Amino acid sequence: MHKITTSQSLRQAWYNFFESKQHAIISGASLIPQNDPTVLFTTAGMHPLVPYLMGQKHPAGVRLANVQRCVRTGDIEEVGDSSHCTFFEMMGNWSLGDYFKKESIAFSFEFLTKVLGLTVSQLAVSVFEGDIDAPKDIESAEIWASHGIPKDKIFYLPKSNNWWGPAGITGPCGPDTEIFLDNGQIPCSPNCNPACDCGKYLEIWNNVFMQYNKTIDGKFEQLSQKNVDTGMGLERTLVVLTGANTVYDTDLFVDAIAMVQKLSGKVYGNNDTTDREIRIVVDHIRTATMIVGDELGIVPSNTDQGYILRRLLRRAIRYAIKLNLPKASLSQISQCFVNVYSIQYPQLLSNQKKIIQEIDAEEERFVKTISQGIVRFEKLVQNLQGDTISGKAAFNLYDTYGFPLEMTQELAKENNLKVNVDGYYQCFEQHQSKSQQGATQKFKGGLQDNSQATTRLHTATHLLHKALKTVLKDENLGQKGSNITAERLRFDFNFSRPLSQDEIDKVQEMVNNAIQDDLPISFDEMTVQQAKDSGAIGLFGDRYQEIVKVYSIGDFSCEICGGPHANRTSELGKFEIVKEQSSSSGVRRIKAVLK
Ligand code: SER
Repeated sequence: MHKITTSQSLRQAWYNFFESKQHAIISGASLIPQNDPTVLFTTAGMHPLVPYLMGQKHPAGVRLANVQRCVRTGDIEEVGDSSHCTFFEMMGNWSLGDYFKKESIAFSFEFLTKVLGLTVSQLAVSVFEGDIDAPKDIESAEIWASHGIPKDKIFYLPKSNNWWGPAGITGPCGPDTEIFLDNGQIPCSPNCNPACDCGKYLEIWNNVFMQYNKTIDGKFEQLSQKNVDTGMGLERTLVVLTGANTVYDTDLFVDAIAMVQKLSGKVYGNNDTTDREIRIVVDHIRTATMIVGDELGIVPSNTDQGYILRRLLRRAIRYAIKLNLPKASLSQISQCFVNVYSIQYPQLLSNQKKIIQEIDAEEERFVKTISQGIVRFEKLVQNLQGDTISGKAAFNLYDTYGFPLEMTQELAKENNLKVNVDGYYQCFEQHQSKSQQGATQKFKGGLQDNSQATTRLHTATHLLHKALKTVLKDENLGQKGSNITAERLRFDFNFSRPLSQDEIDKVQEMVNNAIQDDLPISFDEMTVQQAKDSGAIGLFGDRYQEIVKVYSIGDFSCEICGGPHANRTSELGKFEIVKEQSSSSGVRRIKAVLK
C-alpha cells in the first residue's frame, strides 16, 4: 500500500487495481455527449456506456474501468460552500453481464481496505429496502456482513436513496449499495443514518446493480443482462486520504487558489465571505477550462452547453469583480488547471490557447455591460412595487446587458426578491430566441433510443461528415457535436465560414449518391493506434492500446464509433439538408432529415 497524496496517484491506484482484476482500462469520454440529446454534459461514468449496458457488445470486453470527467450544474447556486463543485471526476468500474453483486462488493471492499488502507470501522453502507419495482436487497447486505461490516453499519434505505438512474429520462437503472465514510462522530439522533446530513457519513462510492430499463411510460423492464455500474468520487476520496479539509485544499486547487490570492491580494482561509467568492471563481473556472479544453470543446453561446458555459463564466466574472481581480485574471487562473490536469487530459494542453482566448473574450464582452446592468438592476429594485421582478425586466437585463436569468435570480435573492420566471420565458419566446429550455424540451430519446429512425440518421451522420470533409477540402474539419432525435440529425463541425448553396447541394448529392450505391456497413475491432493508422476519423481516446470499433461504409467512410448503424446505405432513403447555420464561433451546424 502506497500513501496516496495526489490526484494522479489516486487515479493510478484505481487503474492498477482494476487491471489486476481483469478489467480493460478505457478512455474517459468527452464531456459533451455524442448522439445523446437527453443530457447536456456527461454526468456519470456510465453515461457514455449506455448502449453497452443495454446489451450491445463492448469491444474492450465485459469488465471495464476508467476515470470520467463529469459536469453537473444542477446545484450551481450551492457552489461556494466547502463541498459543492460543478466539475468532478468519477472513477468507475463496470461489469457488462459478467460479475454481479458478490464480486462487485468484494472488489470495493478490497480496494477500500487494502489499497486505500481504510479500516472497517471507518465504513458504513446502505442497501435498497425494496418496493413494488424491485425486492429488498438482502443479498447485498449479507455480502457486506460476510466482509465484516457490522449489522448496525448496514442501513436499508428507500428508492430515493438507494436507486440510481436513469441518467436522462429513460434508460438503464437499478438498486444500488452506497459506501460511506463514517467520521466517528456520535449519531445525531437514534434514527441517524447515511441519508442524514449531520455530517457523520460521507458518501464516496456507489455500486449500482443495473438490471432494469426505465421506459418512457415509467415502467421498469428487466434488461437482457445484469450489469454493475460503480462510481467513486475522486475528489471526495482524495480529501479523505490526504487529510485535506476540503477539495479546495487538495493538489487540484491549491495552485489556482494561490493564483487568486496573488492577483487579488486577498487571503484564502481568513474570512467566510472572501472564501466563498474565491471558491466560486476557482470552481467555475475549472469547469469552464474543462468544457472549452475538451476534445469537443465548445465556446460560450446562448444555447445548450454554450449557455451553461456562459453562465459559469459570467458568474465567475461577477465574483472576480467582487474580489478586485484585475482584467484577464480568469484566464491566468485557468492555466493552473491546465497544468494540474494535463497529465490526465493532454487535450487541455493542445487547446491551451483556445481556453485563454475564450475566457478573455467572454470577460471582455461581459465586463462592458455588467456595471451598467448592475446600475439598471439597482434602479429596478428602487422603483419596484411588491417583491417580484417582472419577466419583462428580467428579459431586458438578459437581452441588453447579457445577464443570464439565473444571475438576475441570484441578485434578486440577495435583495429578498423573486423573479417572474414564466414571464421571462414568455418574453423569450416572443423574441423567437432559443433558450436553454430548448435543451430540455428536445429530450425524448437519446442513445438508448436505438430505433430504426435514429440508427439510420446516425449512419447518415457518418456519410455527411465524410462528404463535408471532401466537398470543403478541409482535412482539419471534424465533428464538434452530434445530436440525433427520431426526426432529424444535427451535426456540428469546425469550419470558419457559411457554406455556399452550391457546396450544400454538392454535400447533399454526395450523401445521396452513397445511399444509392447501396454500400454495406460493417465494423472491425482494433486498437486506437491501428484505427489512427488506418485513416479512420473520429475521436481518438488517449489510451492507444484500447480496443475500439471502427465502422466502414463501403470505401466511402471509416470512423471510430460505438454504433449502432444500418446494414446497408440503401435503407436510409433520401437525405436532405434542411438548415446550415452558425453554431458558435468557428463552428457550423447542419440539420438534416431522411425522407
Ligand atoms: N451511475 C452511478 C452514479 O453516478 C454509479 O456510477 O452514482
